[in-house]
Amino acid sequence: MTQGPLTTEAGAPVADNQNSETAGVGGPVLVQDQLLLEKLAHFNRERIPERVVHARGAGAYGTFTVTADVTKYTRAKFLSEIGKQTETFLRFSTVAGNLGAADAVRDPRGFALKFYTEEGNYDLVGNNTPVFFIKDAIKFPDFIHTQKRDPYTGSQEADNVWDFWSLSPESTHQVTWLFGDRGIPASYRHMDGFGSHTYQWNNEAGEAFWVKYHFKTDQGIKNLTAEEAAKLAGEDPDSHQRDLREAIERGDYPSWTVGVQIMPVAEAAKYRFNPFDLTKVWPHADYPVIEFGKLELNRNPENIFAEVEQSIFSPAHFVPGIGPSPDKMLQGRLFAYGDAHRYRVGINADHLPVNRPHATEARTHSRDGYLYDGRHKGAKNYEPNSFGGPFQTDRALWQPVAVTGVTGDHEAPSHAEDNDFVQAGNLYRLMTDEEKERLINNLAGSISQVSREDIAERAINNFRQADGDFGKRLEAAVQALRG
Ligand code: HEM
Repeated sequence: MTQGPLTTEAGAPVADNQNSETAGVGGPVLVQDQLLLEKLAHFNRERIPERVVHARGAGAYGTFTVTADVTKYTRAKFLSEIGKQTETFLRFSTVAGNLGAADAVRDPRGFALKFYTEEGNYDLVGNNTPVFFIKDAIKFPDFIHTQKRDPYTGSQEADNVWDFWSLSPESTHQVTWLFGDRGIPASYRHMDGFGSHTYQWNNEAGEAFWVKYHFKTDQGIKNLTAEEAAKLAGEDPDSHQRDLREAIERGDYPSWTVGVQIMPVAEAAKYRFNPFDLTKVWPHADYPVIEFGKLELNRNPENIFAEVEQSIFSPAHFVPGIGPSPDKMLQGRLFAYGDAHRYRVGINADHLPVNRPHATEARTHSRDGYLYDGRHKGAKNYEPNSFGGPFQTDRALWQPVAVTGVTGDHEAPSHAEDNDFVQAGNLYRLMTDEEKERLINNLAGSISQVSREDIAERAINNFRQADGDFGKRLEAAVQALRG
């Protein structure tokens, strides 16, 4: 903003910003005091709807650098050469809390990354966990209702949380992860990120691959215990946001080593787990993580509302060489985010400075709507046209996928080793005894708050099925707390 007198929204100088205009000394306020009316009216409209999930978050700009040649897997231009750099914007978040909630809570962390590439913006909207609670988008609104405030009590309720999880045994893997040591990261800098879903990469020759992204923190993993987190959440609700901003301010730029697991398309049908099931990982012994990049965050946003609150990320924002998989969760997400943005930020959200392409321009025939900035000037608004307007390329961003069968409300297919418990059991058995002890205490602390015996027992039974020892110890711990 330039120096000079305070003005109204229309730019006229303001004489008095302390006293509103009255009819005589001590008389009522006059409607002709436009400054007063304008200030009160603008203030009433400062909020936009918060994100329905992941409302609480913090963001920063950064740089992605390619460190290995992946051109035999993808033709994405931003990945085309070792050393190539792309500007990014990353928004971290918690899931369940409303705007203003404390950062140090047990909850997955969002890891939403925008690459401003020369072929358009590529968004990878992931979490700090490689898996998720459910595997079909149709269950997402129900699931989130159980995580947010109860319609009657207005608080998060252990009954709702455990009722849903216990009736959705596919959640057992993610819940084991969430109540383990990594369930409360010490900061956004000290955690890994994951694309979580399987995505498609495809190369110049038209060959397709299934891939999963991994972001390994270079700061090392650091977590909080339940007790440490409860204290910090009370003393410093903004702990994660402050930590990120201050690290970047002092030049201590956080970074992540970026890798990818790659599955040749021909191996998907026979793989021991359904590769498009978001409740499962691909064990690294089957598909090792191949490093190909470095992500560094090095610039704080100047205005949190403009650049973080109004930032939008969509799993449907792909670029040539990258596309979706048939994962039923991902397919639902391809719709949900754009719809949320149109409601939350408006139809021209894509054109705000943080959201628009930075390394190319958007050339569309869409026009107008609320807060349209006239960027197309007088250009024709239809296609085909004979006036040099933008034209289609005739090349799809991703390769087609073979499908079989008939339409219907089908469950995602089960592969040879698929069931809801196998990977939760494997995760439990990987833990040291101290890690198991903390996991069981955390779970028991939460399950013991459930008011109904049948819900608590059903919840314990899912962990019993993952591993007999897990179930036995958890049952004893819950009984000890319930008395
Ligand atoms: C079908 C399942 C899901 C649905 C329908 C869904 C829907 C949504 C919606 C509507 C938002 C708010 C978007 C906005 O207002 O800008 C959101 C935010 C978010 N979701 Fe999901 N979500 C799903 C699953 C997931 C999964 C599996 C992940 C991670 C792997 C994830 C990660 C995120 C993140 C990181 C954000 C915050 C993005 C930001 O920082 O703006 N979601 N989700």
